[in-house]
Amino acid sequence: MSDSATTITFQFNDGQPAQTHVAVSGESVLDVALNNGIQLQHNCGGVCGCSTCHVYINAGGDDLPEISDKEEDFIDRAENPRINSRLACQCVVERDMQLVVTVPPQHFLGH
Ligand code: FES
Repeated sequence: MSDSATTITFQFNDGQPAQTHVAVSGESVLDVALNNGIQLQHNCGGVCGCSTCHVYINAGGDDLPEISDKEEDFIDRAENPRINSRLACQCVVERDMQLVVTVPPQHFLGH
């Protein structure tokens, strides 16, 4: 049933139009971004070992897995952490979730 689909809407601060994508259970917000060509850094490869996949969850955050101490530590080191900050690789979705996420400006170093 289509009403159990999970969607993630990605918003950007640089004028790019928002994009909404369907996610399947078990995927992380990082997976869905990368699968859809959205640039989101992930220096540690998605194992909660860095802070580069930092995003803001504007809606739906209550349905996500609880934030771990480790995730919290890395968020503290991210740029401009806020109360709704999460690490995208740790935001694993289940069915029937509607998330709205802001992707902060991405700084790609060392091209
Ligand atoms: S990719 Fe490193 S913590 Fe998410």
